[in-house]
Amino acid sequence: MDAKIIIAIDGYAACGKSTTAKMVAQHLHYNYIDSGAMYRAVTLFFIQQKINYQQEIPQIEEILSQINIHFGYNAALQKSETFLNEVNVENEIRKMYVSEQVSPISAIPAIRKAMVTQQQKLGQAKGIVMDGRDIGTHVFPEAELKIFMTADMHIRALRRQKELEERKEIGTLEQIIKNLEERDYQDTHRKENPLKQAQDAYLLDNTQLSFEEQCQFILQLAEEKIRQKQQLSYIQN
Ligand code: C5P
Repeated sequence: MDAKIIIAIDGYAACGKSTTAKMVAQHLHYNYIDSGAMYRAVTLFFIQQKINYQQEIPQIEEILSQINIHFGYNAALQKSETFLNEVNVENEIRKMYVSEQVSPISAIPAIRKAMVTQQQKLGQAKGIVMDGRDIGTHVFPEAELKIFMTADMHIRALRRQKELEERKEIGTLEQIIKNLEERDYQDTHRKENPLKQAQDAYLLDNTQLSFEEQCQFILQLAEEKIRQKQQLSYIQN
């Protein structure tokens, strides 16, 4: 049996991390975990419950105990979907009003701690691809393969606009660029595990790459890492 590795894909907002990670996972028969969806689900809960996160929240542990997030596989659509307290919120969490509040909420230390614990549990069995902002630096610093994705802002905004349109949501390019810039700024400047490239991560700028080319870039590296791990386990046994 092939050795299983952890693939961590981090990077800026709307660089195509999730679509790429999903394809890589499918190709390797690995599980794909969208860590951003977890922070989005927490944000949705905060919005629904009208929790004021601008000030200190003394009852944060109590709030977190009311939040249950899990992923369920939708066989008809052949994709994993996000559930918040047993309700399918996959579409809702992708909406602009959630994107606009997710970064400050994700910066709250107690929330990060709870999400990271859950993400590390999900990765225990290896054979996973997880995308996010702090996967290679904090969640799985020992991941065998780390990718840091970036792309030109205009290209990213156009891709995000297309995604929104497909879901019948309207967003002007200016609105989208503003949101992406704000999120990148907050994600790279927060105190707790800010977004940054891990020292041992491969940089992948996909501005000029096709989707197939970027998947190929990751898959080649993944196959090499799997081979190395396999060889190591032969030597050790
Ligand atoms: O990946 P996505 O763009 O859906 O993530 C939404 C937001 O969740 C990010 O802008 C960031 O604020 C937060 N996030 C995070 N750490 C992660 C994944 C996402 O802080 N590992």
